Amino acid sequence: MSYQWPSLTNWLEQLASPFYQQGYVVLEQAIPADLCWALYQDVQQQQLTAAGVGRQGQHQLDKQIRRDQTAWLNPDNPVQLQYLQLMAKLQQDMNQRCFLGLIDFEAHYARYQQGDFYQKHLDAFVGRSNRVLSTVCYLNTAEQDGELVLYNEQGQLLTKVQPKAGTLVVFESCRFPHEVLPASETRYSIAGWFRHNSSIQGRIDPAR
Ligand code: OGA
Ligand code: MN
Repeated sequence: MSYQWPSLTNWLEQLASPFYQQGYVVLEQAIPADLCWALYQDVQQQQLTAAGVGRQGQHQLDKQIRRDQTAWLNPDNPVQLQYLQLMAKLQQDMNQRCFLGLIDFEAHYARYQQGDFYQKHLDAFVGRSNRVLSTVCYLNTAEQDGELVLYNEQGQLLTKVQPKAGTLVVFESCRFPHEVLPASETRYSIAGWFRHNSSIQGRIDPAR
């Protein structure tokens, strides 16, 4: 695969302007091909474990909701650090353009194998989480199935994203319900969240 990765300024513009208009953006070839390949190699070295949905001891129930396996990214790993640094640039830019007050970023690798899915969910609930922006970056291409489906606040389908190496999706965490349809081939991604300080959120929006 060969493609021209745009300059950083261009890249940020391509992400920020659709995001500003609609609250989400899907950008193909959004991360450099060599970084994407290195991450794809790296994820296969990692120990991934069954993902939960936040409660302890509810493993069976969790498996009705999501079946992916995950591993948190760590800046001590040089390849993972490169990705985190790219996201730090995006964070800075989003703060400047959209005044989001993002203070940090957490992310994990995710693997969906044949039959794995993640039911429709929100990544954050207004006033109950400090996740502001969700990001998903695909590390390999699934020719069919395993799409990410985004819905609007009324539950209407907005877009179906085919997992494609290098594609980056960014959306407002508390605004867009989404789901991962059952995969038919192994699909690797990095799901990440930009966060802001929840005490600041409390002060800005006390009514909630
Ligand atoms: C998530 C998620 C989407 C995807 O991990 O919260 O919604 O396409 N992932 O991997
Ligand atoms: Mn999600």
